[in-house]
Amino acid sequence: MHNRTKKILVCFGTRPEAIKMCSLVHSLRQTDFDVKVCVTAQHREMLDQVLDFFEITPDFDLDIMKPNQSLNELSGRIFMKMDTVLAEEQPDLVLVHGDTTTSSICAWAAFHRGIASGHVEAGLRTYNKYAPFPEELNRQVTARIADFHFAPTKVSEQNLLSEHIKAENISVTGNTVIDSLLWTVNKLENNFSNPKIDELKGKIDFSKKVILVTGHRRENFGDGFLNICKALANIAENSDAEIVYPVHLNPNVQEPVMKLLSNHSNIHLIDPLDYPSFVWMMKQSYLIITDSGGVQEEAPSLGKPVLVMRETTERPEALEAGTVQLVGTDASKIAESAFELLHNVSVYEQMSKAHNPYGDGKANQRIIEFIKQKL
Ligand code: UD1
Ligand code: UDP
Repeated sequence: MHNRTKKILVCFGTRPEAIKMCSLVHSLRQTDFDVKVCVTAQHREMLDQVLDFFEITPDFDLDIMKPNQSLNELSGRIFMKMDTVLAEEQPDLVLVHGDTTTSSICAWAAFHRGIASGHVEAGLRTYNKYAPFPEELNRQVTARIADFHFAPTKVSEQNLLSEHIKAENISVTGNTVIDSLLWTVNKLENNFSNPKIDELKGKIDFSKKVILVTGHRRENFGDGFLNICKALANIAENSDAEIVYPVHLNPNVQEPVMKLLSNHSNIHLIDPLDYPSFVWMMKQSYLIITDSGGVQEEAPSLGKPVLVMRETTERPEALEAGTVQLVGTDASKIAESAFELLHNVSVYEQMSKAHNPYGDGKANQRIIEFIKQKL
């Protein structure tokens, strides 16, 4: 009997999902599967930056982002629009990534239509449903729905097994973030440049220690961000470091950061960077201060110490490797830890050793092998 070509619909919507799924799309397109890409566009500009760099044109673009969207209106729009795409496309498998509203709602929409789903970056847990919010629950819900689970590490596999997910439906693959990172580093090392990198070279004094900052977590909105800004102002006023902060476009981040940090000559508040420029900036940095998930995974591989502005993390591997330190959003704790790394060479050297707890750059291939077995 003739085997029909199987259809895979890869769904994502935000910057980090795009970074971690675009290299998988490239690898999938080298197989016999019929591969289509659906973006919810939960993010717009920050998603398009990644699509441009990876040269991917989506087959479906739900274009749902609205300014300061609420989680429920966002979820409603994804459900409605995904339903039409799934009805039209009728894929054999939907692939989603991680822990965003896009991931859980796309998986759920597929389930409602009887379509199988695979979860890339499955099994990360804090078991605190309010941290990270709403991501912890998005990820748990997606695990309940998905048929196949691509766990980046043994720790995440263990979490899934303890939740009674069958071992035969889990594959430990490494994180696709490393596939994308290595691909990008390779480009940067082979004379890739873009106007943004040239602009950064002109703007920032790289003879000084550079601290790269990002932040966007919902549980840090309000007091958390006020404390973060207080800490950064303290570091700027009491050190010679250059602070580079590409500010996330969420208005809940933009407002306090622009208000409190605009007047420091050694704090550079800039637009979100395209992915290669951000990787380039990470490589130039002395230290990274962030609440980002993806950055916690990339930095160990680049040997950059990270102060994580969270109380808890679903990524314990980097903590264990010693590259990452949890500092929460206490203003004095953040500043003290930064001063220690700026001044204490042995502490700095301890934290700045390169580790690869999140993968070897072959996650995409492992995911594809597993899908071939299952479909
Ligand atoms: C989302 C994800 C979060 C992920 C983060 C990565 C959820 C609930 N949140 O959070 O898990 O870590 O992305 O960055 O899924 N905006 C723009 N342009 C953009 C992107 C955002 O203007 O390109 C603004 C819009 O006003 C938008 C707001 O930011 O309404 C919030 O975007 P949203 O995706 O809802 O939340 P994030 O905080 O970005
Ligand atoms: N990133 C980027 N430009 C920036 C800041 C971050 O390309 O200005 C990349 C970063 O390298 C990482 C990802 O975006 O791969 C992290 O995204 P974000 O912090 O928004 O989300 P999270 O990982 O916390 O879900």
